[in-house]
Amino acid sequence: MSTITRRLPPAEATGLRTGARHRLAQVYRTGDLVVLGLGVMIGAGIFSIAGQQAATVAGPGVILSFMIAGIACLLACLCYAELSSTMPASGSAYTFTYVIFGEVWAWVIGCALILELQLAAAVVARAWGRIAVGAIANTGVRVPYPELVEDGLVLLILVLLTAVVAMGARIGLRALWVMVSAKLLAIGAVVVVGVLHVDPANYAGFYAEPQPAATPSATVLELFTGQGQVFGWFGVFAAAPAIAFAYIGFDIVATAAEETVNPRTVVPKGMIRGLVVATVIYIAVAAVMVGMVPHTGIAVAAPLTSAFQAAGIDWMVHVIDAGAVLGLTTVILVLIVGQTRVLFSMARDGLIPRRLAVISRAYHTPSRVTLVIGATAIVLAEFVPVLTMQELVVMGTLFAFLFVAAGVITMRRGMPELERGFRVPLSPLLPVLSLLATLWLMVNLRVQTWAWFALWMAFGLLVYLAYGRRHSLLAGGERPPPPLPHGRGRHRR
Ligand code: ALA
Repeated sequence: MSTITRRLPPAEATGLRTGARHRLAQVYRTGDLVVLGLGVMIGAGIFSIAGQQAATVAGPGVILSFMIAGIACLLACLCYAELSSTMPASGSAYTFTYVIFGEVWAWVIGCALILELQLAAAVVARAWGRIAVGAIANTGVRVPYPELVEDGLVLLILVLLTAVVAMGARIGLRALWVMVSAKLLAIGAVVVVGVLHVDPANYAGFYAEPQPAATPSATVLELFTGQGQVFGWFGVFAAAPAIAFAYIGFDIVATAAEETVNPRTVVPKGMIRGLVVATVIYIAVAAVMVGMVPHTGIAVAAPLTSAFQAAGIDWMVHVIDAGAVLGLTTVILVLIVGQTRVLFSMARDGLIPRRLAVISRAYHTPSRVTLVIGATAIVLAEFVPVLTMQELVVMGTLFAFLFVAAGVITMRRGMPELERGFRVPLSPLLPVLSLLATLWLMVNLRVQTWAWFALWMAFGLLVYLAYGRRHSLLAGGERPPPPLPHGRGRHRR
């Protein structure tokens, strides 16, 4: 069969195809998935990026940017929900694409997801290190060699979280419930205390005249419309793609489908509920932040804490620091979990070495692939300026959204008989709107981001031609037996 046309049969989309050694244990219920979603969504996006965008691009209109990005993500979420309810597989968009569009496209989406998850884990780990050093300094302790301490803390958190993920979903899940609850308490305090110090006059900037951007961001859209502006309505829309970073993660819930009890109904519920709760939280926090201080007075380096300091509520600085440190910890944790599940699926299908799909006998997790991901995140976070690469994470995510929306439409036509636990209402209208909204966000990303993304994809395609195309289980011939653990009896082609 040609690599262009070969597709994974829907019945083979989950772990059953390769035997028990490649099956993940079912541990998640609806509440766990909501916690998983909130765990990965609420992080750098709300603690840092919201304030940066308010100060430099959208003003108080950042509240509307959150609504716009939220609507775009909700449309995508409905599409993810339908496909996960039809194919509850740990590969998420990668597996959906494999079934609907075929192997080459699946590989492309796999590369986009790797970019999203692997890079995001490094980006958030770096942001975590910065916030952690700031939190220590805010307690009055002098931090000697802050950059060195930051590097050390980043290494420590990534080693710890990789170990947690490698040692089992249950350990990770318990830790996650505790940390997400604590982060929600901190966010609740921000809203409740902050709202008492809101000055309605600060919302006046909504109507500020747009200004030419001081540093042109050179987005794809600006290639056609000329130099961009900030503030006013233009700023509201221009900030939306950066704000989309805050929503990254609802899609990762889909990678937990294979480990969910009764996934066809539970995954859509968990995913949609998590996204709705996160959206409400984001809008509330953004409204409080831009209501407390004029947007011109928001400190880009530490937006939330500076707003409370300006209002004279210094004790809240420690609450926010604790919430941010815990919040970003759970983001990294779930990103690593999601990334393991995607790579695990790709390895199980033979597109990357199958030995990576081995489930550890001791911990019942794909521990090998987890170690590879942890090590890669450490290298990226320590040696690459990842904090400048947030847009690339958003690009990878949005690219997958496109295929998921198109997948709903194609699958309704091509495979109407498949059992669906959830159906996108008003299809194909909402999937088409999802496509348009995603494209809109994508053209608001920088040309430079598109260029890096194209390079990554070209590299990915070369890897596919060199390896995946020939080693895929769909490449024909006999299926190799599942590999044994601990380096024994490996199959080779
Ligand atoms: N949504 C996650 C964050 O904001 C990636 O940190």
